[in-house]
Amino acid sequence: MEPWVTALLAWYRSRERPMPWRGHPDPYAVWVSEIMLQQTQVETVRPYFARFLDAFPDIPSLAAAADEPLLKAWEGLGYYTRARNLRKAAQVLLAKHGGRLPRDADALRALPGIGDYTAAAIASICFGQPLPVVDGNVARVFARRNLLGGDFRKPAPRRALAAWLAPHIAASGDPAAFNQAMMDLGAQVCTPRAPRCDACPLRPTCQAAERGRQADFPEPPPAKALPERAAKALLLRDARNRLLLARHPGERLLAGFWELPDPATLPFRVRSRRVGAYRQAFTHFRLTLEIRAAKPLPDSPDLPDGLRWADDPAALPLTTATRKILAAHAATKRPR
Ligand code: ADE
Ligand code: SF4
Repeated sequence: MEPWVTALLAWYRSRERPMPWRGHPDPYAVWVSEIMLQQTQVETVRPYFARFLDAFPDIPSLAAAADEPLLKAWEGLGYYTRARNLRKAAQVLLAKHGGRLPRDADALRALPGIGDYTAAAIASICFGQPLPVVDGNVARVFARRNLLGGDFRKPAPRRALAAWLAPHIAASGDPAAFNQAMMDLGAQVCTPRAPRCDACPLRPTCQAAERGRQADFPEPPPAKALPERAAKALLLRDARNRLLLARHPGERLLAGFWELPDPATLPFRVRSRRVGAYRQAFTHFRLTLEIRAAKPLPDSPDLPDGLRWADDPAALPLTTATRKILAAHAATKRPR
């Protein structure tokens, strides 16, 4: 057993968070808790766990549950599929597994509502099997400790981490404590922002803490490659110092907003020069605006629908790009 594993277990045993499912002798209760904890915080789960076990104390009572009491017991926890899957799995356990939870992780994973994480959690906590749980919390701890790159929302890096952890959990001699220690460490100590390294049992062996690189791990997922769009935005005023604005065309999201016009869309020609650029990422594309400025017009040509001279642009609903360009180019209002 490596020293960090010894330190992890000692830390867990010294400060074990009391939770009603920890040390519970009935695998059924641990299973219920793990399903509740899939999408819900420990503190929220507590009262639900107690009420659920009162209502459905064992696998047969859950398998026979009617819709209404079942959903009533889950009311407020959300993700109700979890409750329906619990009942469905209880029925499978009665039909195929003698009314008991199987010890084997593959058999657990075959039940409705149980994935890799929950199968490993139940198999390790109830049956002492050395299968590491890897979720976002655990991945963050070891991405930092071992300076691991990669996107841990993907299966391949998770599996690689599980494979690295496997001999350590086996050597620990206490898979239940090992896994729950990792869960607690990720949830309470090695937090996404401001990890509490001074209180961390892995501090002496943590490479990120050693180098002050906690913020660099886990690596943020690479930015998606979005299609590029280009357009021009013209800063043009009239003789009365009003700014020319165009109504944003179409696109529900920005309908009704005003923006700097593209010179190519104007009913008259103006000479302009490039004064800068503006970039913005939208959900589905990246926009680069070439910002151009023109000398004020000597008169105020009539404008068709969709264009206007604005005395006070800030009083109108402006697109973000327009607001930012105007703020940045206040000084270029009147080019020579
Ligand atoms: N999250 C999922 N399972 C857990 C457990 N057994 N203890 C604490 N948090 C958890
Ligand atoms: Fe996370 Fe800090 Fe512990 Fe390293 S020392 S595992 S960064 S809390």
